[in-house]
Amino acid sequence: MRIVLLGAPGAGKGTQAKIIVEKYGIPQISTGDLLRAAVAAGTALGKEAKAVMDKGELVPDSVVLGMVEERLQKDDCKKGYILDGFPRNTKQAEALDAMLSKLNMALTAALSVDVPLEDLMKRLTGRRTCKSCGQMYNVYYGPSKKEGACDKCSGELFQRDDDKEETIKKRLEVYTAQTAPLIEYYSKKGILKSVSGTGSINDIFAKVSELLGLK
Ligand code: AP5
Repeated sequence: MRIVLLGAPGAGKGTQAKIIVEKYGIPQISTGDLLRAAVAAGTALGKEAKAVMDKGELVPDSVVLGMVEERLQKDDCKKGYILDGFPRNTKQAEALDAMLSKLNMALTAALSVDVPLEDLMKRLTGRRTCKSCGQMYNVYYGPSKKEGACDKCSGELFQRDDDKEETIKKRLEVYTAQTAPLIEYYSKKGILKSVSGTGSINDIFAKVSELLGLK
């Protein structure tokens, strides 16, 4: 399985990707997570990225493309990969095609997770993530049993800096203008599959499994 996950901020790309990782051991490559790791490490790239991410805009293509190319060459990607949050615009999609053709690991599917834009604000303002294991919760739709602590590992839960209302509005605008056109891009290539991202996480995963032919 070599897939791209498409969908607006908060559609549930990361949530579904983490279930696939757990069940099938295929790595999730999230450019957002890679960038947040650089921010946390305080590298020069991280400092540059943080300023852009806090505004809800896209980090320069050159930065993201370099990170993805390096990650795809690691051994664990030989059995497949899930690209989550990448590509984000047509230029990144074209560069990805060229990269994958060079590495001989072309995409098998692009899966679009579709959620009405009006539902996304609550998903994003309510999101909480475990600092230790990355497990996600939602204060409105799926809270942890104990406030502020992870059910799985008791780690501390945090709210992402870009999950503030004003930044979310900008992220949704950027998605509509720059990322949504990729649905058409992959449809033209004949590899687009779409799933509704509304409903229970497990029900959505059942549909994802069927669409991707997972056993
Ligand atoms: P990134 O980290 O990629 O964020 P995003 O695309 O905005 O997506 P999210 O992680 O916010 O949402 P998701 O779809 O994964 O939803 P989740 O599963 O968490 O990017 C952040 C920033 O980094 C960008 O703004 C940009 O600056 C930069 N960046 C990243 N990639 C880049 C690139 N390629 N180029 C340039 N810049 C880049 O779910 C959200 C919430 O909903 C959670 O609380 C979850 O528990 C809940 N939830 C999930 N499913 C359901 C459900 N079925 N019902 C109810 N609640 C649900």
